[in-house]
Amino acid sequence: MKYSSCGHVNLTNVEEPTRLRGWIDSVRDHGGVIFIDLRDETGITQIVVEPENKEFFSIAERCRSEFVLSVDGKIRRRPDGTINKQIPTGEVELLVSSFEILSESDPLPFQLDDYSSAGEEVRLKYRFLDLRRSEMQNNIRARSKVSSSIREFMDKEGFLDIETPMMTKATPEGARDFLVPSRISRGSFYALPQSPQLFKQLLMASGFEKYYQIVRCFRDEDTRADRQPEFTQLDIEKAFTDEDEIINLSEKLIKSVFKKLLEIKLPKFPKMTYSEAIERFGSDKPDLRINLELKEVKEIFLNSDFKVFSGPANDLNSRVVALKISSELTRSKIDSYTEFVGKFGAKGLAYIKVNDLSKGNDGLQSPILKFLSKKEIDSLFKFLEVKDGDTIFFGAGHKKIVSDSMGALRNKIAEDFDLIEESWKPVWITNWPLFEESIGGDLSPAHHPFTSFKGTIEDLEADPGAVEANAYDLVINGTEVGGGSIRIHKSSEQAKVLEVLGISENEAQNKFGFFLDALNYGFPPHGGIAFGLDRLVMLMMGADSIRSVIPFPKTQSALCLLTDAPAKVDFEQLEELGISLTDPDGD
Ligand code: AMO
Ligand code: AMP
Repeated sequence: MKYSSCGHVNLTNVEEPTRLRGWIDSVRDHGGVIFIDLRDETGITQIVVEPENKEFFSIAERCRSEFVLSVDGKIRRRPDGTINKQIPTGEVELLVSSFEILSESDPLPFQLDDYSSAGEEVRLKYRFLDLRRSEMQNNIRARSKVSSSIREFMDKEGFLDIETPMMTKATPEGARDFLVPSRISRGSFYALPQSPQLFKQLLMASGFEKYYQIVRCFRDEDTRADRQPEFTQLDIEKAFTDEDEIINLSEKLIKSVFKKLLEIKLPKFPKMTYSEAIERFGSDKPDLRINLELKEVKEIFLNSDFKVFSGPANDLNSRVVALKISSELTRSKIDSYTEFVGKFGAKGLAYIKVNDLSKGNDGLQSPILKFLSKKEIDSLFKFLEVKDGDTIFFGAGHKKIVSDSMGALRNKIAEDFDLIEESWKPVWITNWPLFEESIGGDLSPAHHPFTSFKGTIEDLEADPGAVEANAYDLVINGTEVGGGSIRIHKSSEQAKVLEVLGISENEAQNKFGFFLDALNYGFPPHGGIAFGLDRLVMLMMGADSIRSVIPFPKTQSALCLLTDAPAKVDFEQLEELGISLTDPDGD
């Protein structure tokens, strides 16, 4: 008896005695003949049990979906008219001589071919069933292929795969830490790494010049479609390098992964500065498949009577932008967009709908027309090259609010009106500011506090908000796929950055003194990058959430519905750790 796979039998196997093993995908009783679609990880073969085979026919009658069978029989050509061109094995079937039920299945909590009506909760609770679906099988297999092609590439480039600790001290990447209490050092906690940032830098100080790792990272932040509390990075670091080298290496890597998995040849990735991205697209991760742009119109409204525009037009920290749309927009759609930008803190969404330019103001619809002069309208229309049927939206106010809200509106309108081109649009975002300034003026690192900067320590002292970082992000189709930087390798520069961030020497010593120390012992210049592996696979597979490319993901509320984690623990276990709960019921 020859063992074969359900996806591999074909006309060349006709008459061969064959054994197949797999799950019952479906059972059909066709006028006395029982047809079973048997599925394994390679595909599906049709199994035929004829009534003449009395012993096995009666067993087949009680077979149900997802029973596991071992089936013996002969491959035969399907009769004309019953050939299924949709599947590779569709020209043949296995005529059963005998079979064994290896395992039975209870009725399923949801039908695998009707998973969408089941809801994600049930699918996550019974993830092992959900993973049997071909879409999930494809995603997980693609993920494995991406990982192996990354390893192949990095190995060939001479990078060493080095592991870093999971039980460690906090790494400042800007999220909250997951903590692990220590039993031996009661009252002390390990932190799970938000990334291996400090360890990979220390590896450079340790004399390993090319490091990579496909590594789990942990961040206690709000979960979204493209974020999980535990996720996987491809983490890279190199000594004696510069921005161009890391960018070129990364580009070559991403191209090779696209080629391996999708057989797609990506073009050269363009570069765009951070400020250009914000100015034109209102976002540091612009989706360049969308042919819509924000236009700065401050100049036109400097002396306007309309204070909503002239106020911000005369304020350095503000902007006035216009977004021109050519799609037909209803009043209720416009109202829904006003509500949408409100979520980002915008105070309103002024608009002008251009019905008929030849009729002057009578051909326009707008709540702000009465506030604008003819000269302002004329210059605006000329600048924006407005035509009949266009609608112009305006955002005016603090730079951050206007960019965030109008950038998001650009994406939303593109989605609503199907304006997203079918293509791959990678872009490097470069020349990041070193610090992000909150609306209140507080500084925080735009990446992390170990990022090197352009200019001198004096520049940093004079105007930290204006200093640029040697940092770069890779954005593909509006998703931030990776980010990295050239690092600080001099302790004086590191100390200055920490000072600007308001981190005292004492606090810095407490948090990452081990790292600051190493800066005093011959630390080579170095830099690197990390890619979100889940995000990359999600994008490549066209999935709408990273949950679809992670075998056992967490929900939006960071729960694992399969295992019921996180879970309460016994009192004794807590006592051993020296932990007492102030709110044992978690209410
Ligand atoms: P960063 O914080 O930008 O950089 O992370 C790198 C990439 O990891 C992915 N990513 C995530 N994916 C899923 N869920 C999350 N919660 C999540 N958070 C981040 C993103 C992101 O681009 N140590 C630096 C890298 C460096 O400087 O070398 C770092 O971690 O795709
Ligand atoms: P108001 O004077 O507040 O009634 O606003 C007049 C119009 O301007 C309305 O259509 C508002 O939606 C719009 N508007 C108000 N504030 C802003 C703003 N900050 N940016 C853009 N439009 C605004």
